[in-house]
Amino acid sequence: MEEAMMQQKKIAVVIGGGNGIGAATVKVMAGRGWRVVAADIDADAARAVASEQADCMGIALDVTDAEAMTEAASRIEAELGPVSALVVSSGAFQESLPPHRMTDDAWSRVMQVNLDGTWQANRIFGTRMAERGAGSIVNIASVTGLFSSPLVAYGTSKAAVIGLTRNLSGEWGRSGVRVNSVSPGVTLVERILKHRRQGTRYYGGDFDTHAAMGRSVEPVEVAEAVEFLASDRASAITGIDLPVDCGWLTAAPWEMFGGCRPAVNAEAAK
Ligand SMILES: NC(=O)c1ccc[n+]([C@@H]2O[C@H](COP(=O)([O-])OP(=O)(O)OC[C@H]3O[C@@H](n4cnc5c(N)ncnc54)[C@H](O)[C@@H]3O)[C@@H](O)[C@H]2O)c1
Repeated sequence: MEEAMMQQKKIAVVIGGGNGIGAATVKVMAGRGWRVVAADIDADAARAVASEQADCMGIALDVTDAEAMTEAASRIEAELGPVSALVVSSGAFQESLPPHRMTDDAWSRVMQVNLDGTWQANRIFGTRMAERGAGSIVNIASVTGLFSSPLVAYGTSKAAVIGLTRNLSGEWGRSGVRVNSVSPGVTLVERILKHRRQGTRYYGGDFDTHAAMGRSVEPVEVAEAVEFLASDRASAITGIDLPVDCGWLTAAPWEMFGGCRPAVNAEAAK
């Protein structure tokens, strides 16, 4: 009976599932009955996250290695069955730098992981989904892909991820594959919390004051949006980018008017 139930579970692959938003997504998806493969260049982290969830596994995977990704897709399908959902949460980051100080190597690394890696993962897993006639992909983009920021390579790579998502939704719509992206605002993963503890200017608590809701995003809040888009509950949604940013995008013009108003009832807002 248990064996039969396990086989009914839909399979999801979460690339970058070892930490941060990816790890939160593994947990939320497992909690909603998915059988999740957490895949990460940090294999120990992926295995640790998977080991805490029923029926999940962690594997080593470098999103920039297309050959290894093709092998992994074949192995997962042979051992577990068809992959119903792919989430690409792997990310490379950059310091805030003016363009003349951005090295070609730093630019290329960000593009290789964020754009080329996302493209290859989408192509490899998405083609298999399209051939079977079913599947759902959620790419993790960023609000920095939607406005201007001091992160020229990172923001450009994320704008491209949103464009890639939109293009692939048209390619595979009639083949039963939905492709969407989620754009988080500042999300309090360990990487960001470390910057905050160190007082790094560009990730400081000041971000909170610029969002309509006056706070940053929790990883689980991004994961909930990802799981929704991956699931059949979003069966008519494809080609969109869903910001999950506590209203950071929408509140930006308020800075010109002195910032957002405080809560009407401060006690109630707590
Ligand atoms: N945290 C935020 O504020 C924020 C905001 C907007 C967008 N994002 C995006 O969310 C995604 C997750 O970021 P996070 O904040 O959770 O960061 P994180 O550092 O906590 O997690 C990123 C994960 O990607 C993995 N990874 C890095 N390179 C890889 C590769 N080549 N192959 C496979 N895995 C690789 C890392 O090992 C790590 O586990 C990224 O795409 C990031 O750009 C994050």
